[in-house]
Amino acid sequence: MKQEFKPVHGMWASRWVFILAATGSAVGLGNIWKFPYITGEYGGGACVLLYLVCIAVVGIPIMVAEVMLGRKGGLSPIHSMQRVAQQSKVTRRWGVIGYLGALSGFLLLSFYTVIAGWSLYYVWEGASGVFQGASAEQVQAVFADLKASPWMMLLCHTLFMAMTMGVVARGVNRGLEKAVEILMPVLFVLLIVLVGYAATTSGFADGMRFLFAFDFSKLSGEAVVVALGHSFFTLSLGLGAIMAYGAYMPHQIKDSKTGKAKPVSIGSTVLVIAVIDTLVALAAGMAIFPLVFSNGLEPSAGPGLMFESLPLAFGQLPGGALFSCLFFILVACAAWSSSISLGEPLVAWLVERGWKRWRASLLIGALAWVLGIGTVLSFNIWKDDTFLMGTFFDNIEFISTNIMLPLGGLLIAIFAGWIMKETQARKELAMKNFKVYMLWRAVVRIFSPAAVIFLFGWSMWSTFGPDEEPAKGPPAPVEQQQPAPARAADAPADDARVPAVSEGGVNE
Ligand code: TRP
Repeated sequence: MKQEFKPVHGMWASRWVFILAATGSAVGLGNIWKFPYITGEYGGGACVLLYLVCIAVVGIPIMVAEVMLGRKGGLSPIHSMQRVAQQSKVTRRWGVIGYLGALSGFLLLSFYTVIAGWSLYYVWEGASGVFQGASAEQVQAVFADLKASPWMMLLCHTLFMAMTMGVVARGVNRGLEKAVEILMPVLFVLLIVLVGYAATTSGFADGMRFLFAFDFSKLSGEAVVVALGHSFFTLSLGLGAIMAYGAYMPHQIKDSKTGKAKPVSIGSTVLVIAVIDTLVALAAGMAIFPLVFSNGLEPSAGPGLMFESLPLAFGQLPGGALFSCLFFILVACAAWSSSISLGEPLVAWLVERGWKRWRASLLIGALAWVLGIGTVLSFNIWKDDTFLMGTFFDNIEFISTNIMLPLGGLLIAIFAGWIMKETQARKELAMKNFKVYMLWRAVVRIFSPAAVIFLFGWSMWSTFGPDEEPAKGPPAPVEQQQPAPARAADAPADDARVPAVSEGGVNE
């Protein structure tokens, strides 16, 4: 039963567009919301350094593997995996990597649009001047009211899902490409403006010190797990999003100077993406922490850092209404260019099976929207209906982020390192430097799988193991987390609330 699927989606116009699209996928809530609060909770500079190491030694090699598999397969992740497996003369069952990824992408999409929808609400609130001169209680009340209102959250979720699937429905060239060409420059400009604004505040020096002073005494085993998990999440690894984008990456481009076709190198392209993603995360920290320090707030406020501390800080500063509005537009743009990469692999798969793109987008969007209602209700009506890891949202989030993403990453590394024909991989990567290639190969064969197994084992052990204090473990159920106060004077000192590779914790 051999089916052949033709690539029908189109190709990125250039290597640069691929970089924009993949960076758009990578830069999202993970960078602007999660990275700063993780850094805040795990002691600043030391955590930043760990994260950089994880990106370099695990994230980048696995990203290279994903792009390589996608470009080799040329199709949606499911079909690409089946095709590459076939070419390597192993069972097509390796397509399971694609199926697993499609499922985790679907789960992630369902709640990503809910949280991203909050940023739309905050754009509105910021513009209306609600935060201007507001007290901590008033700012907290805005967040609490939003979470308590299923209808408002549903409205924002619906809007964000429509924005996401609307882009996916228009296809690779007319949709995704156009979107990232507009969103990414807006994002970069806003980020620079906001960092500039933060630089004028009195807390800038403290903010920078907090981010970049490496205090090794603060390093803990838990921080390692958190940093490793986050490096997967932030680079969009483990579910085939980057694989799908890799499939639209041309093998050759015309050299603008000589006019001759030259191969597009995967290694250097991935390096650019990872560097930009990291710079954006650091810049987000540079925009946020100075404001936090200028207002005498605590950096370790947890998941509420962006939705409580930051609006509070903006509200105390001149021009705060404008800048808080700009800040949440930035968050919305970043989340938008990420969420489209969650929808694309599934839609591409259906299109290859003969579906019309708009119909496939409508179906996937509608199904994810329905599942997302569960997340919406987890913050209000179903708040107390907890099972396993906590609320419905906690479970969906835990399963997709903490279990399926690392598992996907592990299988991708194993396939690329052990299963796929070595000659094929080498040819596809076309690395000029053989030593670099051998290093990559050693890392994806041994180091990356070992690191992922460690992460996986640790989070499982600390969650389900006979630990007296499961909340100390990285993927602590959100339920057990304490409220994230806007002023961390209220926060407990030995705060270990944040789930390792999860973005949970927001409903506290
Ligand atoms: N990287 C995005 C962020 O930081 C989230 C994301 C988009 C993602 N696509 C993904 C995470 C695929 C894992 C896999 O917000």
